Amino acid sequence: MQLIDGKALAQKVEKYVETEVEKLKQEKNIVPGLAVILVGDDPASHAYVKMKAKACEKVGFYSITHHMPETISQDEIIGTIEMMNTNPRIDGILVQLPLPKQIDTAKILEVIDPKKDVDGFHACNVGRLVTGLDSFVACTPLGVMKMFEEYKIDLKGKDVCVVGASNIVGKPMASLLLNANATVTITHIFTKDLKAHTSKADIIVVGTGVPGLIKEDMVKEGAIVIDIGINRIADGSLVGDVDFEHVAPKCSFITPVPGGVGPMTIAMLLSNTLKSAQQRS
Ligand code: GUN
Repeated sequence: MQLIDGKALAQKVEKYVETEVEKLKQEKNIVPGLAVILVGDDPASHAYVKMKAKACEKVGFYSITHHMPETISQDEIIGTIEMMNTNPRIDGILVQLPLPKQIDTAKILEVIDPKKDVDGFHACNVGRLVTGLDSFVACTPLGVMKMFEEYKIDLKGKDVCVVGASNIVGKPMASLLLNANATVTITHIFTKDLKAHTSKADIIVVGTGVPGLIKEDMVKEGAIVIDIGINRIADGSLVGDVDFEHVAPKCSFITPVPGGVGPMTIAMLLSNTLKSAQQRS
């Protein structure tokens, strides 16, 4: 069993971004800029946004966070996004999800200029991804693809089971895997027999938010398991969607939580923002 070290790989990606930022500054006088919109007081969202801002600073980006109250109107959020769309210092716009109930998330995401959509959530980028065109791709699944590349895991013809069909993880993950010529099954909350699908898979990618969902008897010997879940349990510790202790011994590769996919999400956000700034130049 080999652990996939997301922390080390994220640091490698961040180092690369830092070097490229320096080049952009020297050669084109461009500083990549990221605008983050954070609505409300969800502690997890606050923690993520803080980590994103810190990462931006580390690689030499310009970054601003627009923190808005929980009760903000949809039009005010749209107004801020429109300002960021035309701000020449901003290459990437990110609206931290989830948004409060009174806000129509789909409508908000549609307002972001697809050229600045570094989260890859705009329907335009999703459509481009599905058709195999160059696009901004959601950071977490993109980070998982980077892990496969780094560990030379060949996807062609592999049976991959993606557990969880969210717009920000499962669906883009499945598209990326399909584009890489894997045979992809997507399971979700209404799947009748999850185990029947996972136990046949060469690779399982799980992102559901259900702690310990994937158990030992659901995983084939020698499988590769990628755990996207980050769940805080009653004792305060962080666990994934995989029962790591019992599943890990059966795997050829597995990602830990924490230190697996988590750090890759931020690294790929930096990478996407850099790409946007390079396209501006
Ligand atoms: N909420 C949970 N994951 C994400 C993400 O990758 N991007 C944004 N904007 N919000 C999230």
